[in-house]
Amino acid sequence: MSDGAVRYLPPLVGFDEGTRGTVTNHRMREVTEQVAQRGIWNSGLLTEVRDLFDSLAPGWTATRDHPARNAPLLDALDRGGVEGRTVVELGAGTCISSRALVGRFDCYLAADLSPVMLAHAVDGAPPLLCADASRLPLADGVVDVFILQNMLLFPAEVDRCLASGGALVWVNSRGPETPIHLSTPDVLASLEAASGPAWRALASTVGEATWAVVRRA
Ligand SMILES: C[S@@+](CC[C@H](N)C(=O)[O-])C[C@H]1O[C@@H](n2cnc3c(N)ncnc32)[C@H](O)[C@@H]1O
Repeated sequence: MSDGAVRYLPPLVGFDEGTRGTVTNHRMREVTEQVAQRGIWNSGLLTEVRDLFDSLAPGWTATRDHPARNAPLLDALDRGGVEGRTVVELGAGTCISSRALVGRFDCYLAADLSPVMLAHAVDGAPPLLCADASRLPLADGVVDVFILQNMLLFPAEVDRCLASGGALVWVNSRGPETPIHLSTPDVLASLEAASGPAWRALASTVGEATWAVVRRA
């Protein structure tokens, strides 16, 4: 990755900075790094991750659906200059964010590994796809925008499905304290290791959240 591959925009102020403790030893942090940086993903990990989120699904919306929840993602789309027709949100969970974006794009698909998460999708959710993001049932280069909010990064599959000129929107709602977290340089490094060519990013923060809009250089 070249110096200057990440351009940081000023923080968007006026949002909660967060006071919760670090979760750097969370099991999902370990899985996140294995998947993105070492390409480790197998049936055992799939079952572990799906079972975890199946179990969390019934309480997911109630504990996360607050007015400021989508501010980082909306800021990423706006200041990151994200446009496109076909958008796929990977690891959409109960579609708390998808719901706010359905009308913004021509085609918006919410995908998740956990059938129980999707069964608890909020009213107004877009079309749902139960799929493993490591093996998407999508043709090469058909996605203009991938949205990954607190979601594992499968860099080779993102690269395969992303259109020329497309963008990956990466959001961590609790910044570095998010269990499923990668820094922006680590997102770029993972994509470059999987795909070859260089990638670049625009990045910023909204309260405790971090976001990056990542494109091929
Ligand atoms: C931390 S939750 C985030 C949910 C939602 N994006 C949000 O911020 O509210 C991570 C989500 O990613 C999903 N997920 C994990 N691994 C996945 C995979 N391999 N393919 C698709 N979804 C996956 C989980 O089932 C879960 O719903």
